Amino acid sequence: MNSHLKNSKLVSALLDWFAANARDLPWRRTRDPYAVWVSEIMLQQTQVKTVIPFWERWMRELPTIEAAAKAPSEKIHKLWEGLGYYTRVRNLQKAAQVIVEKHGGKFPENFDDVLALPGIGRYTAGAICSIAFDQPTPILDGNVIRVLTRIFGIAENPKEKATNARLWNIAEELVQNSKLKIKNSKLCCSHLNQSLMELGALVCTPRNAQCLICPVKKLCVAFKENRMEELPNLGKREAATARRFMAFAIEHAGKFLVRQRPAGVVNAHLWEFPNVEVGIKSGDPQEVFAELDALRFTDRDNAKLKQLCTVKHSITRYRITLEAFLISLNKHPLKIEGVWIAPTKFDSLAFSSAHKKLASAAAKSILSGR
Ligand code: ADE
Repeated sequence: MNSHLKNSKLVSALLDWFAANARDLPWRRTRDPYAVWVSEIMLQQTQVKTVIPFWERWMRELPTIEAAAKAPSEKIHKLWEGLGYYTRVRNLQKAAQVIVEKHGGKFPENFDDVLALPGIGRYTAGAICSIAFDQPTPILDGNVIRVLTRIFGIAENPKEKATNARLWNIAEELVQNSKLKIKNSKLCCSHLNQSLMELGALVCTPRNAQCLICPVKKLCVAFKENRMEELPNLGKREAATARRFMAFAIEHAGKFLVRQRPAGVVNAHLWEFPNVEVGIKSGDPQEVFAELDALRFTDRDNAKLKQLCTVKHSITRYRITLEAFLISLNKHPLKIEGVWIAPTKFDSLAFSSAHKKLASAAAKSILSGR
């Protein structure tokens, strides 16, 4: 089958399947480019079911680009608390400010103007322009790469330049082709791109792909040759790295010491308990006090120390273990930097996910009388 005919058949099958099977997601009920943009930023590295309540709350609290541009930093971080990758929300606000200053508060429709906004790359610009404006702008992310490498039997690593360019070309041909299809619908490019996302999410999954219900199985090289498990060929994964931190819930008179992380670091601007990175292996109980010394905590004699909890989590390739200790002081410490707050105020601050767990363990320990 020649490639034009194959693409044409693929597009028809994908559009029919999407019309019958698209999930009813809240951001699919609007074509407001701001709402679509917020959804696309939240959906980077985050699953649909996690994003839904965050998106709904964001749109309720900051319903316009102006509102997002003007919101206090504390507010946008609080609205993003738990989603992770917080650079996303700071770029979202920077971009909202650019739109207010350069585009009179109206989301730009020109692809290059969209691409120029902070935090928006080729995929996100393509997604917004196709979904909100029905432009034939291609998209290529992990889901779409999986779908296309399987359908076209592409065995080369999609991260390689030439292969990546080939995949972008295919994505572009498909979305261009969609314009020829539904003459009575205005949303062909939007639906074609979303059908690729949706197929990757629901059918053409990384493992145990549901090929028997796939609308394009007859056109799929991987299905024909039973190569679903081999494709895409992502090469060797970078090995996971273990890291270990100690954190200290330092308490005096019912209040805890917390700090805001500085700009320019991971989880910048979020709140946390004092903590230090420590070596992976150590069972030495004195280590806790040694680490506290490193934090210039010099009130050892007034302190009661107790293990509080251990939180395990992953950020990119790091597998992080955070061991937390409760330190109760019977005299007010003078030298430690930070803000003293009662557990009833924890909810007003945006904590990183691990430290939010620690905050609730610290609050519980106070309620239960330690
Ligand atoms: N993943 C990325 N963008 C998406 C969208 N608009 N709908 C569902 N999943 C997505």
